Amino acid sequence: MVETKGPTGPPHGPAPSLWPLGFAIGLTVALVGLVLGSWSTVAVGAVLLLAFGFVWARDVATGHGAPPVVDEPLAPGPESARHTVPLRSDRDADALPVMEDEEIETYPRSAFLSLSTLGLGGVITGIVAAPVTVFAVGPAFVGQGEEEVDIGPLDDYPEGNFIVATFLARPDEGEVSRRTAYVRNNGVVDGRPSLTILSNRCVHLGCPVQVNGLSLEGQKKTVEVPEGPTVELTPTEAASGFGCPCHGGQYDTEGNRTAGPPVRALDRFRYKIRDGRVILTSSYSVGEVDGQGAEAVIKAYDLAMPSVHVDGPEAILYPFEPPH
Ligand code: FES
Repeated sequence: MVETKGPTGPPHGPAPSLWPLGFAIGLTVALVGLVLGSWSTVAVGAVLLLAFGFVWARDVATGHGAPPVVDEPLAPGPESARHTVPLRSDRDADALPVMEDEEIETYPRSAFLSLSTLGLGGVITGIVAAPVTVFAVGPAFVGQGEEEVDIGPLDDYPEGNFIVATFLARPDEGEVSRRTAYVRNNGVVDGRPSLTILSNRCVHLGCPVQVNGLSLEGQKKTVEVPEGPTVELTPTEAASGFGCPCHGGQYDTEGNRTAGPPVRALDRFRYKIRDGRVILTSSYSVGEVDGQGAEAVIKAYDLAMPSVHVDGPEAILYPFEPPH
């Protein structure tokens, strides 16, 4: 005859279960679906995630599945022969050393089981989800190098005035990669053409800056690019700088900030001349520009996000730059 005690003792946590494993599998399926762009897979994963998460949370909350507390079987004989664990003599000497209540540090089995279950679930989830997360997020941190972009013959950039060039930075990505650069031919210096090529991305929050001057839309032309999408060139006249329509940021003709909230000069493009054509190779950020045109001294830095200080004491607030 075995006597079973009801839930009169300390509450027990859940027994070890497979719910965390099911939860981890659901998470994995959902992440794989996200990576593959398969919404049906994401839905299956989400259902598994919710179902196993629900029963797991329910078990943890209610202690469902905890083993009942069982007294030792009653031994035949007089009442004094009954005992519970820990065994303690009712007679003369203690079977085990008897400690005062305040000396006993209790650590119930239920707490151990509960923490073990949660810990095991967390470990399994981490092991399963970590590779998927790396594959899902990793691509954002690699392969971010810029491609060379042909923006047309050098002859299409007459000396003196800025030309607005719009082009696809990554033709395989389509219109979403369309960029605009302000290109000014500074003439030939030391036998080499000198160009100032500014990005139109405002370094406050990224709005497109506009030329403070005349935009000669009627003279816009489309330039063919071998094995690539066409480039549109729009001449400008009497440009005195650039202005941002969003919050009033102002820049001079070298891209230096002159007013408003931007924190640095406009970003620039590196370039090379190949077979008489202007090729953009990469872009970079600029702290400040001293001088003009071909004589300008440019404080160049790795490309930074808008609003990021690239020099001065504030730059220490931006120790890392996410890929972009
Ligand atoms: S985005 Fe250009 S000033 Fe704010």
